[in-house]
Amino acid sequence: TVPEGNEFNGTFPEWACQRKAKLEHLNKKLTSAVEVLQEFAELRDSNQDYPRALAFRRASSVLKSLPFPVQSVEQLKGFKDIGEHVKTVISDILDHGSSSEVDDIEKSEWFKKMKLFTSVFGVGPSTAKVWIERGWESLEDAQKDGCPSGDWRIAWGLAFSKDLNTPVCRSEAIAFSRIVQREAEHILPGVITTLVGGFRRGKPEGHDVDILLSHPTDEAEIGLLPKLIAALGKRGLILIGHKEKNSFRSDILYQDFKLSTRGQLDHFEKWLGICKFPKSFSKSKDSESNSEVNQETSFTVPALEATSDSSLDESINDLYEPKAKKSKSSGAIDTEPQHVSAAPRDWLARRVDLIIAPISQYYYALVGWTGSKHFNRDARLYAQKKLGLKLTSHGLFDLQKREPLTAETEEEVFSHLKIPYIDPTDRNC
Ligand code: GTP
Ligand code: MN
Ligand code: MN
Repeated sequence: TVPEGNEFNGTFPEWACQRKAKLEHLNKKLTSAVEVLQEFAELRDSNQDYPRALAFRRASSVLKSLPFPVQSVEQLKGFKDIGEHVKTVISDILDHGSSSEVDDIEKSEWFKKMKLFTSVFGVGPSTAKVWIERGWESLEDAQKDGCPSGDWRIAWGLAFSKDLNTPVCRSEAIAFSRIVQREAEHILPGVITTLVGGFRRGKPEGHDVDILLSHPTDEAEIGLLPKLIAALGKRGLILIGHKEKNSFRSDILYQDFKLSTRGQLDHFEKWLGICKFPKSFSKSKDSESNSEVNQETSFTVPALEATSDSSLDESINDLYEPKAKKSKSSGAIDTEPQHVSAAPRDWLARRVDLIIAPISQYYYALVGWTGSKHFNRDARLYAQKKLGLKLTSHGLFDLQKREPLTAETEEEVFSHLKIPYIDPTDRNC
């Protein structure tokens, strides 16, 4: 029997942050089409909050949570987030197997170039548009220009675009988080190291590795980051990166209700950069590192615990043997990217984000840095509209009372938000 949409409307949660959305869902063909429209709208309008892109995002988020594969647009009756435009696209796909609107976008040179250029670290839609206006067709055109904007991210992003555009796999993310945990524990015993971002949501691969660090004692985390970067550098793991200072100020937080959507999303101390992952990190068979059990245990990285993959353990331990390369020059922090990329090498360049949060803000940071992006946007809007509260990665704030609602677990964040706890692997909305 074909389910009617309106059978569910009554019970289907209104907000994406209240719904479960697994990575694997029943409407992949439809969501990938709607996501092309969303991406096109985001690139064209250069403002990620533009209502058109938002409408597509909300529609695909509904499709991801439906408990049935859509077989007719009739089933979508009453879902307010699925508008006429999306319904047309869906019925084209259901009737003819594809949507000409989506196909035309995917075939367009402009869209292909925008996607290619914005795939470079540090390049957003506005820079990509400038490059297109200059007549550049490929990344080689941009590389010929030297460092097009003087931005270190773009210079290094271009120099290592091949590595950086090869997805990071789970075993690499786990191996690197274990090393970060090991080094951080040595500097600050009791440190909490958590692999966040897409990997915490169960994704098998990602564009970078996001690691959140904290410590059970408030302020113990101060000073950790520079020491950690130095330690990773000594192991030959750092290619290039920059630290950002903590710029959190609770007084300004109570003034601007609307979160700025451009540039900085939060005020944590962090390091954004490119690391050198030994190729052996990704050599291990990752079919097993994809298992449910492994996903569960790998999130908050236990101190010095063995992985269930012995070849991964070996490659991590290699770094700690006295014979391991200790050459200081391999850090190469401020050299030009070209000099580094010329030599043959046994490592891959990988984007890494390291974020430091005080324990008083840690569980909000954990939710914010786990994502998905749409989950965060939706949860923030929900908190504002439904509860009159301001949600950020720093906390949940009552602007009238001018006080934060503190949380000592991730579950507590959800209970303050008055929504049932959603497992990280169900936040792929
Ligand atoms: P892939 O890396 O492509 O696998 O996806 P991802 O979900 O891990 O994306 P990304 O690494 O860009 O970001 C991880 C999560 O952190 C997402 O939910 C983002 O919304 C969030 N995020 C990214 N940058 C920032 C930031 O500067 N501040 C905050 N608070 N969150 C951020
Ligand atoms: Mn990520
Ligand atoms: Mn990231």
